[in-house]
Amino acid sequence: MEKIKMTTPLVEMDGDEMTRILWKMIKDELLLPFVDLKTEYYDLGLVKRDETGDKITVEAAEACKKYGVGVKCATITPNVQRMSEYKLHEMWKSPNGTIRSILDGTVFRTPIVIPTIKPVVKNWEQPITIARHAYGDVYKGVELRVEEAGTARLVFDGESGKHDEVVIHNFKGAGVLQGMHNLDKSIRSFAHSCFKFAIDSKQDLWFSTKDTISKKYDGQFKAIFEEVFQDYKAEFERLGITYFYTLIDDAVARVIRSKGGFIWACKNYDGDVMSDMISTAFGSLAMMTSVLVSPDGNYEYEAAHGTVTRHYYKHLAGEETSTNPMATIFAWSGALRKRGEKDGIKELMNFADQLEGACFDTLGEGIATKDLVNLMEGITPKAVNSADFIAAIRQRLEKRLA
Ligand SMILES: NC(=O)c1ccc[n+]([C@@H]2O[C@H](COP(=O)([O-])OP(=O)(O)OC[C@H]3O[C@@H](n4cnc5c(N)ncnc54)[C@H](O)[C@@H]3O)[C@@H](O)[C@H]2O)c1
Repeated sequence: MEKIKMTTPLVEMDGDEMTRILWKMIKDELLLPFVDLKTEYYDLGLVKRDETGDKITVEAAEACKKYGVGVKCATITPNVQRMSEYKLHEMWKSPNGTIRSILDGTVFRTPIVIPTIKPVVKNWEQPITIARHAYGDVYKGVELRVEEAGTARLVFDGESGKHDEVVIHNFKGAGVLQGMHNLDKSIRSFAHSCFKFAIDSKQDLWFSTKDTISKKYDGQFKAIFEEVFQDYKAEFERLGITYFYTLIDDAVARVIRSKGGFIWACKNYDGDVMSDMISTAFGSLAMMTSVLVSPDGNYEYEAAHGTVTRHYYKHLAGEETSTNPMATIFAWSGALRKRGEKDGIKELMNFADQLEGACFDTLGEGIATKDLVNLMEGITPKAVNSADFIAAIRQRLEKRLA
């Protein structure tokens, strides 16, 4: 069989620990035999990041902007323990944070749903995608502890000399204070990414805030979304999808009663909390995919999980591991499909569909990694290690492509 040709390189960002091991297995077994893979390779493994003073992460993000599609392996975000483990020169920032700020993007997380793993919420039939605004609010908040009676004020001094002031509270005694902000520019980028992704995935978009209580702050989010929607309204109508705004409490109630199959855009804190609820309710972190979408239409695909450190130490000790490669495979299929779409290469888009199909065939026959075995219902699953799981996918992929 002739390998599928690509025209534009995919930005490939390698990573750390167990996911780095899976990365190579996936490429060797599921991609290179079928696709004449064209990538621009960036090693974002912690060793290389340290060697380059983390320049490699910035270069990778710039490459994503240049080519428009990237795929990333999970990477270690250094902490104190990693400083000594890797003898680091500095506690480098999270690569995902760096890439996100350069691409100015929004992260969309979607569970991979299979019939034998039932979501905890039994009426959910299709995945729910969470889009989390990843700038500001409480995450860039400043706080004060007040220990006596006094007046707290919110003050703004403009460069023009404009002065605004409101009393937050007249404290009669001890208490706490918090100041937070957001930016029209960031909210607008978030809105563009959400509408673009909804069009891309042909799904309804929900957005929720608490604008009845927070009339100016959350009210601004609502207003910007409504304004940006005007740019996309015609395309939404053409595709028969809807944009739906509601209060966060109403959204929570509706999400629980829904069948799924939509995107739920959330403010930073809501998205933080709700994405954990959604991923747990759908089954497993190892089945959660993630894509960063920039407002100008660049895409970076990855698994939502980390580097699976515990399995890596077992692997180093010579033990077999049953690490689930699904989300990493879907990062590749998502990126290849998008590259195919952008370059008009139907064979590449079809390959992505077949690769995902082969994964579903394998799981449908009960062949699964250990993390999924206890979650499966209505089938007697067979637990296999990562290599055997990938080999089983390859067999089914070959059949599909024959
Ligand atoms: N996007 C990213 O690059 C990213 C995200 C999260 C964590 N991390 C990094 O990953 C490292 C480990 O972090 P962690 O332990 O908090 O998160 P983790 O996602 O690696 O693991 C969390 C738990 O889920 C299980 N798990 C996750 N993915 C799995 C898979 N594919 N198959 C089987 N089990 C799986 C693990 O065994 C563990 O119990 C840290 O250094 C952290 O900085 C990176």
